[in-house]
Amino acid sequence: MIQPFDSLDAYERAMQLSVDDPEAFWSHVASQYSWIQPWSQVLNWDFRCYDVRWFEGGTLNITLNCLDRHLSDRGEKTALIWEPSDPEGASRSFTYQELHSEVERTAAALRRQGMGKGDRICVYMPMVPELAVVVLAIARIGAIHSVVFGGFSAHSLADRIADAGCRMVITADAIVRGGKILPCKEVVDEALTNCNGVERVWVFRVSGSDVDMIYGRDVDAHEEISRYSGTGGEAEVMQAEDPLFILYTSGSTGKPKGVVHTCGGYMVYAGYSFTHVFRAQPGEVFWCTADIGWITGHTYLLYGPLLQGSTTLMFEGIPIWPNPDRFWKVCERHSVNLLYTAPTAIRSLMAAGDAWVKPYSLNSLRVLGSVGEPINAEAWQWYHREVGKRRCPVTDTWWQTETGGILIAALAGLSPLKPTYAGLPLPGIQPVLLDAQGEIIEENEREGYLAVRFPWPSMIRTTWGDHERCRQTYFGAYPGYYFTGDGARRDADGYYRIIGRVDDVLNVSGHRIGTAEVENAINMHPLVAESAVVGVPDELKGQAIYAFVICKGDPQNPDNIRAEITATVTEFIGKIARPDKIQLVPGLPKTRSGKIMRRILRKIAEGDVSQLGDTSTLLDPSVVDQLIRGRI
Ligand code: WT7
Repeated sequence: MIQPFDSLDAYERAMQLSVDDPEAFWSHVASQYSWIQPWSQVLNWDFRCYDVRWFEGGTLNITLNCLDRHLSDRGEKTALIWEPSDPEGASRSFTYQELHSEVERTAAALRRQGMGKGDRICVYMPMVPELAVVVLAIARIGAIHSVVFGGFSAHSLADRIADAGCRMVITADAIVRGGKILPCKEVVDEALTNCNGVERVWVFRVSGSDVDMIYGRDVDAHEEISRYSGTGGEAEVMQAEDPLFILYTSGSTGKPKGVVHTCGGYMVYAGYSFTHVFRAQPGEVFWCTADIGWITGHTYLLYGPLLQGSTTLMFEGIPIWPNPDRFWKVCERHSVNLLYTAPTAIRSLMAAGDAWVKPYSLNSLRVLGSVGEPINAEAWQWYHREVGKRRCPVTDTWWQTETGGILIAALAGLSPLKPTYAGLPLPGIQPVLLDAQGEIIEENEREGYLAVRFPWPSMIRTTWGDHERCRQTYFGAYPGYYFTGDGARRDADGYYRIIGRVDDVLNVSGHRIGTAEVENAINMHPLVAESAVVGVPDELKGQAIYAFVICKGDPQNPDNIRAEITATVTEFIGKIARPDKIQLVPGLPKTRSGKIMRRILRKIAEGDVSQLGDTSTLLDPSVVDQLIRGRI
């Protein structure tokens, strides 16, 4: 286990070493994990053609570090606690020993299905302990997991299964969440009518809902796993650069990208960042409220805490059900030490009123984390005052699916607290701000594009099946740098403040959604001719989705069309991408070359029409007035 820095001085020394001698620095960090064979080369890199390799020659299995390594001295300690959605339901917990044997048995069963190194397995499940177990079991046999968030539709799921070429899907009968039972296996069935290549579907029966089983393809997962002991569940020997998982995320073009992370580098950075940002000690209870279907859940619900020997808490439900004090009940029930959640959850709890949190002493809490979107000052203060009782440092953590782990954050309890600032780069991370020409901005307090000039172990290696897309997206705009897609500013103390995306990617309730993706879905409606989607500031969600839609012909019943468009988006992406507002319009503001001027659309959607800027380059400037008049 890694010891967290004990002072800002120690942090600064580590930072200096990581810049002066990155190989020595990372070699030291990596050597704190157990490797089957040590690496022969720490780093090989080239940001131009984009090729980065860490710890080559080294072999390992991440599950040996998450589980086996702890057995001798922490085997009886709790690895995972599960809190069900139903507040009256019984929670479950697994010691390291128990989790280890579950994972071994599941790994053995997966092998008996013919799964092995390099096979892609899609996981589409609710937040139940079986989800954590199967993800670890997939890693144990050297297969590649592709977890798809349970809120995505059959279409999105089918696209992801097909893109990754999955041979197997693991799912559950239904999703139980916030007093509702939502379909899960049914969605998989529908997805699989649209794609080939899946030989086997495992179904965990967790809700007791009836499901149709397809003979020869579908298997009852509990039954199957119960046939195996640990034999056959040994950890596969993996090369450091072998893929560990694929996770799909939205970009500025229509099709989500399969971000690929590797066994060695991802492991090192997941454990390293978890330990230093939260200054977590073995045995502490860490609660990351994200779903495992997102990168936050991968790195800080599953891998990070287990690598450090902490106790990770997994919650099936939602913050405000059955009441807005659910989070605090869970914190008290399980004596949570570290809470890691998203600003959107904080804002919705804040909106419910202080009375819901006041009665709870929340004595066990030591550190509060925030992730996923910029946290506004009011939400930060409320989190610090009402939840942390002014006792707990709040650490705002900036990172991305592609970065694998937190790159910029306040180091809990060490660095000064500055609301709305994400904080300092972790040692080993070399961020820069670039101007539009790609020149580094040296002075402080100037806004620029956030980029990183040196590799770190858990950076994206490729986008599945399309390396050129990866190179173009992240290394094409500013040659020599990893480009994040975010704008940021740095103050005199070196603290970074993240402003938000500078591309056509929205952040709705901490979920990343591409405008092009939503537009493609809207355009699937037969009566839609064209659409343009923009984000508008929203008090609770951070950003809301506003869609301008041109219909074919004159819409007879606008309300019906709007409802149908919403249903179409739900069908093609999922509920998370539903537009908040749909304005039916006769035209869109386009330049003579046909480019939609989103800047103008954003202003109109926000209702800020006094300064629309120069509209003279538009093909038809009169369209702007029509849009303003039709605003909803
Ligand atoms: C985008 C990445 C991995 C975190 C979960 C979302 C935004 C993330 C912050 C933060 C301001 C943030 C950025 C980033 N973002 N964390 N602390 N402050 N913005 O991962 O879905 O890959 O989205 O989320 O815009 O680029 P993601």
